[in-house]
Amino acid sequence: MQSQCVTDGMLPDDPAVPSLPDFLDDSVVAAWSASGAPLVDLLRQARTPGRLTGFRRGGRAAVLITEPRHVHQVLGVGGDRYVKRSHRARPLIGDGMLTATGEAWRSQRRLLQAMFTGRGIRRWEHHIAAAADRVVDRWAERARRGEPTDIAEDTQFFTVDTIWRSLTDRPLDQETYVDLAAVQDIVAALPADVGGAAALPPEMETALAALDERMHRAIAEARSRRTAAGAGAGAGASADGNSDGDGDGDDNGDDNGDGDGPSVLDRLLRAAETDPAYTDRLIRDELVTLLVAGYESSARTLTWAFVLLDRHPEVMERAAGDARAVEAVLSETLRLYPTGWLLPRHAAADEMLDGRRIPAGTDLLVCPYLTHRDPEVWPDPEAFVPERFPVRTPLRPGAYLPFGIGPRACLGTRFAMREMETLLGALLSRFTVETTEPAGEPVFGINLRPAGPLYARVRERT
Ligand code: HEM
Repeated sequence: MQSQCVTDGMLPDDPAVPSLPDFLDDSVVAAWSASGAPLVDLLRQARTPGRLTGFRRGGRAAVLITEPRHVHQVLGVGGDRYVKRSHRARPLIGDGMLTATGEAWRSQRRLLQAMFTGRGIRRWEHHIAAAADRVVDRWAERARRGEPTDIAEDTQFFTVDTIWRSLTDRPLDQETYVDLAAVQDIVAALPADVGGAAALPPEMETALAALDERMHRAIAEARSRRTAAGAGAGAGASADGNSDGDGDGDDNGDDNGDGDGPSVLDRLLRAAETDPAYTDRLIRDELVTLLVAGYESSARTLTWAFVLLDRHPEVMERAAGDARAVEAVLSETLRLYPTGWLLPRHAAADEMLDGRRIPAGTDLLVCPYLTHRDPEVWPDPEAFVPERFPVRTPLRPGAYLPFGIGPRACLGTRFAMREMETLLGALLSRFTVETTEPAGEPVFGINLRPAGPLYARVRERT
């Protein structure tokens, strides 16, 4: 008997049933939103609980994946077979880790993995603490003057600062910040489903040139520091004088056991000494990739946390000075607002999923946003209840995936949690926060973010 094809008979080719627009195209998303039907609502309506839901999307077949067991099959155990399509940001991030596939991706990931897992993560602590102090100082100043602050802007400055320090071992200045933060406008301006040669809108070319110039200058400076310190000797001088860069505040020559210098850039330059694949172009691509992947999600998650805490002042009070409660707030925020709300894959070859045939070329739209709001998985799913975390009974695989799962899961999970816990903990223990206008509506673009700024009045706790 021939197995049933996943797109057969679920959503018939019926003009009354809209076919899904290309979710990667912001203008289409905007048009759907303007018509009062955000794409996520369409997906939610089309979802058939417990089953795979098929669509026709443009000329291609697409399947919505929300059931934890299906998520686990596609991203987890099937992570090597359901692959990423060419990333729309490829003209910006080139061959960096986010877009790389196959053996190139494996070796790029292996190179940086140790810096973001296990003991490797300790090297970033002092950067994160220094960047958090800057925001605390800014808020203290605002509190003194009685001026509101824009939380969306403050959290973004913080996450660009932490990632820039980690990439280059140098603090962020205002001019560099402007050049780096422009990546979100560049990403937004890129046409959907582009191949490598797609042209950028002319108004974005200047922004891209400024970004490239920053990156190449950082590469040149790090290389000369390395040469001055004697290449291969390892660290070179750290901007804060702590040459071991492991964040423990000492200068004991401990190189975290992996022999790397203090920054990601040092690690990439060291690789270039033995591996010809690491050209300046690839080093630049990897830096821009970590910037793109590394700052927006953390900044938006922190902003969402303040949106939710503002609606739940009792939770805000409980979290002040309680590190475990802060962690739970962030985990629950990531459940309700996973910034990577839609993770697209496609079947490279014919596959079977849950007894159904997935023809080669089918798109699979894994939707953490809907999985996280499935009442079968999360009781009272729309409510903000940080006490759910840490979860008492182990979750089904695929039930919670703000950082993705499987081989392509987020490289920066621990980095992100650490930086978010540090800043949120520091701010909540010192200030009370009250927004001055309601938060904007959620925007389901490449990232899930609240629209517009988030102005708040902050006061020193007495
Ligand atoms: C709250 C913060 C963050 C969230 C919610 C988040 C979420 C994610 C998700 C869902 C993916 C997987 C995408 C997919 O499967 O298609 C991912 C990948 C990735 N993330 Fe993050 N991320 C965050 C912060 C960071 C940070 C701080 C860094 C860097 C330090 C980072 C670096 C990366 C990289 C390099 C990848 C690609 C990994 C690969 O393809 O091998 N992320 N992230």
